[in-house]
Amino acid sequence: MRKLTSLFCILISLLTACSFFAPQPGSGGAPTLAATEMPALPPASALPTFTRIPTFAPPPTATIFPIKDYPDCSPADVQAYQPAASAEASKTQPNRSAVPTLRSLAEKRNLYIGAATDAGYFKTPGYTDLLAQQFNILVPEVAMEWEIIHPQPGTYDFKRGDAIVAAAQANGQAVYGHTLIWDLMLPDWITEGRFTHDEWVNLLCTHIKTLVSHYKGQIYAWNVVNEPFTDEGLLRDTIFLREIGPEYIYLAFKWAHEADPMARLLFNEHNSEGLNAKSQAVYALARGLRQRGIPLDAVGLQMHVWLHGPPTQQDLAANMQRLAGLGLQAYITEMDVRTQYNDDSPEQKLAAQAEIYRQAFATCLNASNCPVFITWGVTDAQSWIPGYTGHPDMPLLFDTKSAPKPAYYAILDLLQNP
Ligand code: G3I
Repeated sequence: MRKLTSLFCILISLLTACSFFAPQPGSGGAPTLAATEMPALPPASALPTFTRIPTFAPPPTATIFPIKDYPDCSPADVQAYQPAASAEASKTQPNRSAVPTLRSLAEKRNLYIGAATDAGYFKTPGYTDLLAQQFNILVPEVAMEWEIIHPQPGTYDFKRGDAIVAAAQANGQAVYGHTLIWDLMLPDWITEGRFTHDEWVNLLCTHIKTLVSHYKGQIYAWNVVNEPFTDEGLLRDTIFLREIGPEYIYLAFKWAHEADPMARLLFNEHNSEGLNAKSQAVYALARGLRQRGIPLDAVGLQMHVWLHGPPTQQDLAANMQRLAGLGLQAYITEMDVRTQYNDDSPEQKLAAQAEIYRQAFATCLNASNCPVFITWGVTDAQSWIPGYTGHPDMPLLFDTKSAPKPAYYAILDLLQNP
């Protein structure tokens, strides 16, 4: 029966991203919430102590969701994260005042500029200095994925995630938590698990509450649901959709919010930065969640793009603007620009890549609701792309020797001369 319900929902989501999240009858399909005022970002000097102003409205009625039908879970192994006193780390903080960097310039504009990272890179000479000088928000590239952080039932391994959070705190950086729910990087006990519907609900609730509680107060924003849609704008056929139903999405937001009411919450998609069927579904889901008072603060636009055919500035701007109309922020969460599949000279490719970064960053700067811009890695030596495609590439802002590339200077220039 649940499968039938899910199939039905997937089918009709072609029109509405899913009837579950479609506008309420009588809303005329237009957003019914007035755009709330965007919260001011805390001054960067105050990081990572955040004052959070919830951006979401209270539920239009208290009874729209049958949330009370779901019993609460008892998170296992919850220990509030205690950052190690890091006097040593603060002593070794690089002097950031000498030369303008992405970070120093971004902080003057109350902007978060960040990169995906992993604790394994911290021993690379010069890496942590580069990270601290250039970025004020870090993302664990894989360290908080289910497979790594919750490898066995009831067993959590926070070491890799804790190391990133500790490094960020030592350098006064914020952390964007990635990710609470995704159907990749799942352990076998989940992908091969045989549980009842209620057990799946409890399992997901426990996973989310345990992670979010462990890092309570340490995470600026959580990516609650990663990549829920197909390119056609249908809800992807994930284990969570099949076993729980489409309500896994709003339940995840509810649980995350309960565990850390101060953390900003978002869902995150790729290939939906411009205007297309997928971004339409993203918008419909965002609107449905907002209309129902679910604590959604932002939508993540990943921006994994190629030299050929990135979304136009106009489309990206329009997409951000319509999310602003829902009172939502739009973060660029995973930008990189692949240079393979192109026969130009390396210099031409780097120039074209710089222009793509420049346009995306300019669009974010010009938008009223884009306070976070993150690249998916720091140097070309650490990008996921060569391992994924089997071909060399140079998708990031720093080359394999950690030297800034034309793309870096394009962003630096915009921060200096908007
Ligand atoms: O940790 C194991 C290691 O023990 C083993 O020796 C090694 C052998 O291949 O694999 C390691 O795991 C790899 C993991 O990254 C950690 O490096 C996985 O094989 C590999 O598949 C995994 O790839 C990550 C991928 O997500 C997972 O699908 C990439 O690093 C990461 O950059 C990528 O990031 C995603 C975002 O989360 C969501 N958006 C798209 C983005 C790019 O695909």
